[in-house]
Amino acid sequence: MVRLLDTALVAAAVLGTASYAQKIAPDCGVGFGNCPSDKPCCSQYGICGVGAYCLGGCDPKHSNSLDSCTPAPICQKVDSTFPNLDRVADKTKYLGDSSKADWVSDGEPAIKDGNLLITMAPGTVGTVIASTNYVWYGKISATLKTSYGKGVVSAFILLSDMKDEIDYEWVGVDLHTAQTNWYFQGIPNYTHGGNITMDKDTYKDWVTYELDWKPDSITWSIDGQVGRVLKKSDTWNETTKGYDYPSTPSRVQLSLWPGGLPTNAKGTIDWAGGEIDWKAGDAKAVGYYYVTFKEVKIECYDPPSGAKRQGSGSKSYVYDDRAGLESNVVLTDKGTVLKSFLGTGTNMTAEPAKTGSKDASSTGSSSPSSSDVETIPGLSGAGTGVNGQRGDTSSSSGSGSGSSSSGSGGSSTGGTSGFSQGNNQSSNPSEATGQRVIKGSMLAVVVAVVAVIVL
Ligand SMILES: *[C@@H]1O[C@H](CO)[C@@H](O)[C@H](O)[C@H]1NC(C)=O
Ligand SMILES: *[C@@H]1O[C@H](CO)[C@@H](O)[C@H](O)[C@H]1NC(C)=O
Ligand SMILES: *[C@@H]1O[C@H](CO)[C@@H](O)[C@H](O)[C@H]1NC(C)=O
Ligand SMILES: *[C@@H]1O[C@H](CO)[C@@H](O)[C@H](O)[C@H]1NC(C)=O
Ligand SMILES: *[C@@H]1O[C@H](CO)[C@@H](O)[C@H](O)[C@H]1NC(C)=O
Repeated sequence: MVRLLDTALVAAAVLGTASYAQKIAPDCGVGFGNCPSDKPCCSQYGICGVGAYCLGGCDPKHSNSLDSCTPAPICQKVDSTFPNLDRVADKTKYLGDSSKADWVSDGEPAIKDGNLLITMAPGTVGTVIASTNYVWYGKISATLKTSYGKGVVSAFILLSDMKDEIDYEWVGVDLHTAQTNWYFQGIPNYTHGGNITMDKDTYKDWVTYELDWKPDSITWSIDGQVGRVLKKSDTWNETTKGYDYPSTPSRVQLSLWPGGLPTNAKGTIDWAGGEIDWKAGDAKAVGYYYVTFKEVKIECYDPPSGAKRQGSGSKSYVYDDRAGLESNVVLTDKGTVLKSFLGTGTNMTAEPAKTGSKDASSTGSSSPSSSDVETIPGLSGAGTGVNGQRGDTSSSSGSGSGSSSSGSGGSSTGGTSGFSQGNNQSSNPSEATGQRVIKGSMLAVVVAVVAVIVL
């Protein structure tokens, strides 16, 4: 299961401005409850905050109220090539206007020879870019070359705010296999993995990987050849009388992360092909591991028949119930853009108090209302800077650059025993559930902490 790192941990720990230890347990999520009203948004990583915490990845189910997260930008046809980074916004600059950027980055993306590199330098936890628009069924393809090396994991996934997930992942020791997987609402069932073997070398050769996600089936295809199909009808859950099928609006995420950090669970390291070697391969040759993307295409399908609408439903997706099922998605005309990083879904125009001089605000301490609330995952402390925008200084300033990762519990191999243990809820349901999530989040945390140590 891909778990994207709460980069707050890295930055906070590196800068010594906060104790990462106190952050090891998530604030919000299954077993942890919902966010408080002063920092209402539950980030993708289970940390409460405002601003960017309320944008892409914000979990409505565990936020303070169902409308704490900002409405999710509706699917748009995108054909991304990468002559430059103009359509890739750094997370410190993006306030929810998906017309201005197709991707939001966390970490260090780069351009080389007209392609996008997603990099992972020694001691960092890699990079992720996520689409600014959501997809509610569509055909998504990526033409890419994976990274290679022990413990190095490349990923191309769809992930919804309700934690529905559809994956391609590649471990850097097996350059002839695309691992596929899917999850429903983040339930860690590790029996859903499936491998597609390939003649081509995933590192050396351009390959086009496609996810054809329909309301009734998911098809994974490689260079136009179907490699795997999941039918919704095969996901019926007799207990809940529902389909355990990924069916909520999702962002496309491209990432590279260190599955082989020594402190990861042994199962994860084994799955990733062993401990990562920062002095080998591309880390040595060019200074970082990397995945190369030539083109990413997103084609949108019509919403499922009977989808709820408010107005014309042309701008955004919201949920009308914390259950977060397909039937709870509503198409709306609501805007998606925050005025500043103090905004939330319930107050999108919130902005720093207009007092005092401009420069004082760069410390983040000038606005009482923001002084103790995090506004951008990955940046320690609060503060919005002038205009409510954090400069990029804080994201890259000595804080260990690569600031995010997607973790993966791996596939079906049992390589994920560390994560799946808590799955057994027979004894104490609440404790077991909590434990599951701690374990689920643990990889990311561990990755972050180790990144700090390595630095
Ligand atoms: C995991 O999913 C499979 C099929 O999708 C199902 O048969 C199995 O019972 C599930 N495991 C658990 C623990 O729910
Ligand atoms: C897929 O291949 C990897 C090795 O690359 C292996 O560890 C894993 O068990 C395989 N998964 C399945 C579902 O066969
Ligand atoms: C059915 O759903 C319940 C609740 O999410 C889950 O615990 C159970 O494992 C699911 N059963 C199968 C067969 O996947
Ligand atoms: C929105 O936030 C601003 C502070 O930026 C505050 O003055 C205003 O009262 C808030 N509006 C609502 C409806 O809470
Ligand atoms: C859960 O654990 C108990 C005892 O630890 C065991 O008897 C039971 O079979 C387990 N259930 C599942 C679904 O693994």
